Amino acid sequence: MEKITEILNSTNLDELSSSEIELRYKSLVQYINKYNHDYHALDKSTISDLDYDILFQQLIKIEKLFPSLKIDNSPSDRVGASPSNGFKKITHKIPMLSLENSFSFEDLIAFDKRLNAKIKQDIGYICEPKLDGIAVSITYVDGKLFTAATRGDGQEGEDITENVKTINNVPLVISNCNLPYVLEVRGEILIKKSRFEKLNERSLKNKQKTFSNPRNAAAGSLRQLDPKVTASRPLMMSAYGTGYIQYSANNSDEYTFATTHYQSLLRLKDLGFEVNDLVKEVSSIDESINYCKELTQIRPSLDYDIDGVVIKVNNLDYQNQLGFISRAPRWATAYKFQSDEAITELIDVDWQVGRTGTVTPVAKLKTVNVGGVNISNATLHNLDEIHRLNIKINDKVIVKRAGDVIPKIVKVLEKERCDKTNDIIVPKNCPVCFSILTRIDGEAVIRCTAGFSCSAQLKESIKHFSSKRALDIDGLGDKIVNQLVDMKIINNISDLFNLNEDVLSNLDRFGPKSSKNLLNSIAASKRTSLSKFIYSLGIREVGEATSNILSAKFKNINSIIDTAKNDKIYLDDDIESSSFLKLNDIGPTVARNIIKFFSDEYNIGLINTLLNQGINFTEEKLNDNLLLKNQTWVITGVLSNYSRNQAKELIQSYGGKVMNSVSNKTNYLLAGKSAGSKLIKAKDLGVMIINENDFSKMMDQ
Ligand code: IVH
Repeated sequence: MEKITEILNSTNLDELSSSEIELRYKSLVQYINKYNHDYHALDKSTISDLDYDILFQQLIKIEKLFPSLKIDNSPSDRVGASPSNGFKKITHKIPMLSLENSFSFEDLIAFDKRLNAKIKQDIGYICEPKLDGIAVSITYVDGKLFTAATRGDGQEGEDITENVKTINNVPLVISNCNLPYVLEVRGEILIKKSRFEKLNERSLKNKQKTFSNPRNAAAGSLRQLDPKVTASRPLMMSAYGTGYIQYSANNSDEYTFATTHYQSLLRLKDLGFEVNDLVKEVSSIDESINYCKELTQIRPSLDYDIDGVVIKVNNLDYQNQLGFISRAPRWATAYKFQSDEAITELIDVDWQVGRTGTVTPVAKLKTVNVGGVNISNATLHNLDEIHRLNIKINDKVIVKRAGDVIPKIVKVLEKERCDKTNDIIVPKNCPVCFSILTRIDGEAVIRCTAGFSCSAQLKESIKHFSSKRALDIDGLGDKIVNQLVDMKIINNISDLFNLNEDVLSNLDRFGPKSSKNLLNSIAASKRTSLSKFIYSLGIREVGEATSNILSAKFKNINSIIDTAKNDKIYLDDDIESSSFLKLNDIGPTVARNIIKFFSDEYNIGLINTLLNQGINFTEEKLNDNLLLKNQTWVITGVLSNYSRNQAKELIQSYGGKVMNSVSNKTNYLLAGKSAGSKLIKAKDLGVMIINENDFSKMMDQ
């Protein structure tokens, strides 16, 4: 194989002889497959994007100039083959069965009893998330991806080989000693929730069809006659088992691919397939029940949809002994989560004013029980969402609830629309202060620009200013803020520091003790850090990470104000010249927001008043010496005070890297509640484990 440096340094193919070209081609295929494997299976970037592109472009060039050299399953197949007229059928060598469902823990205990009656020995199980995607069967012959098929009716599926080849984390070639001659890998094809949202945003922008959920998007993307369309969609495959296996070409050898289901998943992982990292071996049905409880908890925090837990007998011998019953194996069951969707009616739309003046439509629904919780409101996000759903008052809608996330309307049952429906009227005036709303051309949001003279914005700004991660004023709850603003005791943020016991005694159910406590916390909040102060000001799109960066670079508030004033000239069309853009991770939109905020006289007045009232800054361990430089973090489990993204941004703002999986390169695992396999792996590898409390302290220092 040619050395990678030689390939990268000599991009001129004209100087190579035909045998050298062939050699180059083979090297390129090997390198690209290796880098793909490193990236997708091992979660390691072992080449820069630029160098990877150089290799890939050379490969494409050689294939174009010398088509006879192109091998089947070349990495270039990822780009997508030519469209076909329809899908051929593929017969499954071993039928693709469905799973029997369990709806309660009693059902699981009964399942275990049934198996014990047959096996009469301790049965170990393996628990896996039941991924909500599209089942796929991929057959490798002699290490090369040969065919890929949908489940179809279980006996016969559709040939989606060319489409599956475009999925980045599906290996096109696999190699290993003891690799069976024919190996059928089964799994689920899905789209991550975060990628799905981006896909829908992109489709909306390009005036293309949007999808109601990641599963539909995955199904639609896979059943494309033009594989190039599939290639443009963010699909991924997660392997959960094997199907047909033939050990040698002439059927002579027989060895064992695996003796337990868990082992077979590990082998698939070794071969480069993605295997879900929450898969867990357990030794009893009680442990499986605990796993179901834990997964129910962490379900909302996962970046992919799951609709239950699959519990499988781990020992493959036992699986064989247990066999099948009608269309499902006896050795597995699917514990189904309670439905998180329900049908209800849209009664009306309320318009709520947020901290920055954004006016958000909120659906008022006929109360409906979704998975044990009564729902009567759901977010409609913005005007684009109303347009996308094509929703009208009195429509029947499907509402979805995912854990603590605000319920969402996912679909309108347009076929059931009656003539009582009315269009949703977008308000022209702010529902709180009645000033005229603005909508910037092309933006989906409408905005009240009245600032603090709009009481809704003032209330939300004070709540943000005093929140835990800003100035942390203990005892200043939402109800108190609402009263203080409604009674006009507080007309801007700085009025908070003028409160006294006399004024507070006017509040509803607020005794002298509560007053004293609140005044003490307000006094204590004056000692803060520069980054928290910047964050507390509620500048649009300036979160904790950006506040940290500003504080580290400028070190005092006046330099930020001076820079913003100087950079005002760049606001209109030369934002790239702003000093803020030269800072790590600050883009043009955020830079504009910073400049606008700090060059506004009202805001400067407010900041000066706050400083005069005694706000002062503790020495921060500033992150320009990047405390977490060169450190690799992994986040797992459910965090209560941060979203995953906030924690990630915070780590990155201190120079750390955040990866998806634990390896011996990981320095820290930030483990929230119900952490699963990553926690176990981190313990095994001796990785430092940090809980959320310690993490907060570490970030505060
Ligand atoms: S095992 C014979 N494991 O659930 C058992 N299936 O009704 C074969 N699914 O459409 C399935 N996650 O695609 C298995 N971890 C998992 C799964 C899983 C999702 C899907 C599967 C099929 C359905 C079974």
